[in-house]
Amino acid sequence: MYRGIIERYREWLPVAEQTSVVTLLEGDTPLIPLPRLSREISPFLTIYAKFEGLNPTASFKDRGMTLAVTEALNSGRKAVMCASTGNTSASAAAYAARAGLECFVLIPEGKIALGKLSQAMIHGAKILQIQGNFDEALSFVREICAEHPVALVNSVNPIRIEGQKTASFEIVDALGDAPHFHALPVGNAGNITAYWKGYKEYFKAGKSTRLPKMLGFQAAGSAPLVLGVKVDRPDTVATAIRVGNPASWNGAIAARNDSGGLIDSVTDREILDAYTLLPKIEGVFVEPACAAPIAGLFKLSRNGYFTEPAIVTITLTGHGLKDPDNAINNSVKLGSVIPANREAILSAIGF
Ligand code: F0G
Repeated sequence: MYRGIIERYREWLPVAEQTSVVTLLEGDTPLIPLPRLSREISPFLTIYAKFEGLNPTASFKDRGMTLAVTEALNSGRKAVMCASTGNTSASAAAYAARAGLECFVLIPEGKIALGKLSQAMIHGAKILQIQGNFDEALSFVREICAEHPVALVNSVNPIRIEGQKTASFEIVDALGDAPHFHALPVGNAGNITAYWKGYKEYFKAGKSTRLPKMLGFQAAGSAPLVLGVKVDRPDTVATAIRVGNPASWNGAIAARNDSGGLIDSVTDREILDAYTLLPKIEGVFVEPACAAPIAGLFKLSRNGYFTEPAIVTITLTGHGLKDPDNAINNSVKLGSVIPANREAILSAIGF
């Protein structure tokens, strides 16, 4: 029986043998071929999606959270705390509930997708909305956790990165080698840092013959890594990556430089176009942030970046049900209500 990422990759993770593990059987997510999207983007590319929306709380955060909450529990902490654009809080709330710990979350007022907020609420987290953005929330959380016996479970806690690197392991295990390129959305930059770490560790151990070029994508209104300066008022429809001063700034730049990849930005228009395209042509429904790397691949392909056949993996970081408002607002409007009879239904279909 599958027992979660800690048991599957224990030898690669900093967990003591006798540790009691807090898990919801996260990880083991599918690597889904996207043939129609590949054809739309470039004749050179074979694209696979690591669909992290199929984790227990429907985002990639669960890989880091199983470790962070396991560590908090085993070190005797009674509470965990995080700042979040939504997914971290959903995951922290669920794993804290599972462990019997209290959970405090600091979120930017009005900028959390509805599904994520509902998760943190139903798991019983103490939710504090601040009149500020994610970056401000995170700096308060860092201060408070340094002064009080509360475990910080944002990705500035290095154990989160350790958990998240297991997604790279799973990709290499599934493909039999590393991809040529790995594309993913970048917000606070923990995940790009984690993937690069995972790919490097597996390569060093002889599990792959190559390292991928890391392709990170930010939203144009929240693109500090592309601009090279922090953004004081980040903005984007992809609220998950609405981050102006990424905590893992150096990790992201190292992943880009050491892999020979890039970090680029895409506009909200490009994000929304990719966001609505994927579910229509591949049947895969993701939240807007996941569309950033798809839009990014379109952009690179248009600019002639790809010149030979290549395998590309994309992390689809969160499930589309996280953000029902964006799904509804960016779809064709529902038709008006019709009478409950056969003629009306057939005529509405156009038969
Ligand atoms: N995609 C989704 C769906 C996310 O929720 C996040 C980050 C990212 C991508 C970017 O990952 O921060 O490691 O670069 N969400 C954080 C949160 C900030 O609070 O849930 P990153």
